[in-house]
Amino acid sequence: MLARTFTHALVGLESRRVEVEAHLQNGLPAFAIVGLADRACQEAKERVRSGIASAELQWPGHRITVNLAPADLRKEGSGFDLPIALAVLAASRQVPLGALAGHAAVGELALDGRLRPVPGTLVAAEGARRGGARRLVCAAESGPEVLLAGVEPVPVRHLAEAVAYFRGERDPPPVEAPPGDVAVAVPDLADVRGQERARRALEIAAAGAHNLLLAGPPGIGKTMLARRLPGILPRLDDEEALEVTRIHSVAGLLPQGGGLLRTPPFRAPHHTASTAAVIGGGPHPRPGEASLAHRGVLLLDELPEFPRPVLEALRQPLEDGTVAVARVGGRVVFPARFQLVGTMNMCPCGARGDPAAQCTCSPQRLDRYRERLSRALLDRFDLVVALPRPRAGELGGAAGEASAAVRERVVAARARAGDDLARTTDADALLTRAVERLPLSGRGHARVARVARTIAALAAAPHVAPEHVAEALAYRSPTELAVA
Ligand SMILES: Nc1ncnc2c1ncn2[C@@H]1O[C@H](COP(=O)(O)OP(=O)(O)OP(=O)(O)O)[C@@H](O)[C@H]1O
Ligand SMILES: [Mg+2]
Ligand SMILES: [Zn+2]
Repeated sequence: MLARTFTHALVGLESRRVEVEAHLQNGLPAFAIVGLADRACQEAKERVRSGIASAELQWPGHRITVNLAPADLRKEGSGFDLPIALAVLAASRQVPLGALAGHAAVGELALDGRLRPVPGTLVAAEGARRGGARRLVCAAESGPEVLLAGVEPVPVRHLAEAVAYFRGERDPPPVEAPPGDVAVAVPDLADVRGQERARRALEIAAAGAHNLLLAGPPGIGKTMLARRLPGILPRLDDEEALEVTRIHSVAGLLPQGGGLLRTPPFRAPHHTASTAAVIGGGPHPRPGEASLAHRGVLLLDELPEFPRPVLEALRQPLEDGTVAVARVGGRVVFPARFQLVGTMNMCPCGARGDPAAQCTCSPQRLDRYRERLSRALLDRFDLVVALPRPRAGELGGAAGEASAAVRERVVAARARAGDDLARTTDADALLTRAVERLPLSGRGHARVARVARTIAALAAAPHVAPEHVAEALAYRSPTELAVA
């Protein structure tokens, strides 16, 4: 007796269709899963057997072989439980064979037969749509993700509900509209008082997707400003939002209730996070912080505290917007085009750059602190700003401009940035002189030119004038950062 179901296995951010074939033969009762299944997948045997018993169904007293095809694809994770259970039930005629047609299934079974959501259900559902499945049987929590993929979900809480559905004892679920956008609370720039220069740099960074380094003494608003960047970035368009949502689905980080992630993501890994956590990786490669920040902001708060290997590993995504992660039998590439924001004190004790305090760091300690930041990494910050300690009374001043107003200017500047602004002769001469005087590397030169163009776009200027180049250069000045 033979029955088959379909599921969709994750490979990086994509999925491949997998045929799950259950074969029941006479002989001593046994249960084998073949077809390159990993350990979590082998453990499906216990969960499927126990889940079927809990659903008050019969565990067939046969020799049961489940074959997962294609055999060359490594099967990872627990999402195969449900399709395996359904194939076994159909092979033993406890579910009508024909009823499974047009369906795919994905989900993990608890020992009591309850269904648990699995990471990447959105991606599996997209695969199901391409594979021609009309409906995807999934955990109740996964329904919204499946709808996003344009597939009708059959959300079930328990294996018994799935069986009742296939036996026609339960109505198919009503077709629902796809979920709306996930609501994300981003703090507002109106909270930040003073720090006009840093606010300006933040706006330029947002308008041109430039990397930004905020340096200065403790407690003056560096972290506060950085956290407010997503609130002045343009919202993601449909395609970007789906891409970001897919990454978060695969990481198992989509909020309950699902929906599209329309706000640019914001990730701030702690400096104790491992390279794998920041870059991605592990035995079953999952997106790391760099990919979770794709099309959004990656904040490295207290930048010099991050271990050198983590900072070095970020150079690839900073260069080409992707990370390549090794996996058994190959590698996967995750997108990782984020905007980098770093914060730092000028020295380990934090007093440097603060007129009201005295630095107590030894020269050796200062050297070690600076060594952490390679020239190559610092070079990737287009904008470097040293924030001053506010004068007494300044923090009591009026509230700053709200994020919504700043975002309007950012959106307008982005629309103009496509206009390919050219430099005037004077602006060009200024840039050439600066390259010699500073001196600027080739990459530094290109970055100053880009920032100057962003500044001109913000000003709605017809071309890049010397004042725009001068402001861009001011954010590169080595005096901004004693570290350089
Ligand atoms: N410019 C500011 N406007 C309003 N509040 C501020 C400002 N600067 C600091 N604060 C207040 O001080 C707190 C600490 O600020 P924040 O964490 O941003 O400092 P920081 O510069 O990141 O310091 P550290 O170097 O210690 O990390 C904020 O939560 C806020 O309450
Ligand atoms: Mg801070
Ligand atoms: Zn110090």
